[in-house]
Amino acid sequence: MPLMLILGATSEIARACALRFAQEGWDLCLAGRRMDVLQALAQELHDKTGRAVDCMEFDALASSTHAALWDSVKDRTDAVLCAVGILGDQIAARHDNAAADRILRVNFTGLVPLLSMAADTFEQRQRGLIIGISSVAGDRGRGSNYLYGSAKAGFTAFLSGLRARLAPSGVQVLTVKPGLVASPMLEGRDLPPYLIASPETVARDIANAVRKGRRTLYSPWYWRVIMLVVKHLPERLFMRLKA
Ligand SMILES: NC(=O)c1ccc[n+]([C@@H]2O[C@H](COP(=O)([O-])OP(=O)(O)OC[C@H]3O[C@@H](n4cnc5c(N)ncnc54)[C@H](OP(=O)(O)O)[C@@H]3O)[C@@H](O)[C@H]2O)c1
Repeated sequence: MPLMLILGATSEIARACALRFAQEGWDLCLAGRRMDVLQALAQELHDKTGRAVDCMEFDALASSTHAALWDSVKDRTDAVLCAVGILGDQIAARHDNAAADRILRVNFTGLVPLLSMAADTFEQRQRGLIIGISSVAGDRGRGSNYLYGSAKAGFTAFLSGLRARLAPSGVQVLTVKPGLVASPMLEGRDLPPYLIASPETVARDIANAVRKGRRTLYSPWYWRVIMLVVKHLPERLFMRLKA
């Protein structure tokens, strides 16, 4: 059976994806920092779907460990889904370099080593699938969250380049740009409820996009329209929005 490695598997979006892909016949390796939570999740997924599910430690900030981690799973891995991310404290990070650095590393640079190794392996094999969860926040820097947004912009560009490089070898690279999704990431934020999607909706959209061989996915779909408008607003007008 094909195996999908899920980085940041405790994330709400990743959990919904794990269930959906397991139901579609994938075995899973759940990677993350909290082994106790991952093990409980693995058991639950196995009970619900009968698929083989195991776990592995992964911390985006511990890049010196990533080569050994990839070596330990690469032979049996056919796909990688990356759902790692933090919003971080955007206000504190304006003046706290360590906090700013953490936002950039967890959302972007800390993910590059493992995804680059996966890209090399899949390129040699002439098949494979990489799904990176970026964000609509990477489409245009906003005054309220430009550190997270710039990290996601970097991650989006990285995935776009990876896709171009790997296209001749038949490896699919899917960039996912969710809008607002119900998860701990949005806790405590005052947001219009009608704009908040469920993790299950995003997981369904991701599975459909994989099946159709899509390259970039906005989820739910209407974020493509919203971001088209946002990206084309004149800078002078955009700067006045308290977004
Ligand atoms: N929710 C939204 O509205 C929204 C919108 C657009 C994009 N996204 C993106 O969707 C992805 C999934 O987010 P979510 O909404 O499901 O949020 P979530 O439930 O808060 O998940 C975040 C994940 O990132 C992991 N993580 C944080 N720091 C890490 C580190 N140093 N090393 C490894 N893993 C780390 C967390 O692991 P721990 O359990 O160990 O903390 C958790 O698995 C993220 O990339 C996020 O940026 C979310």
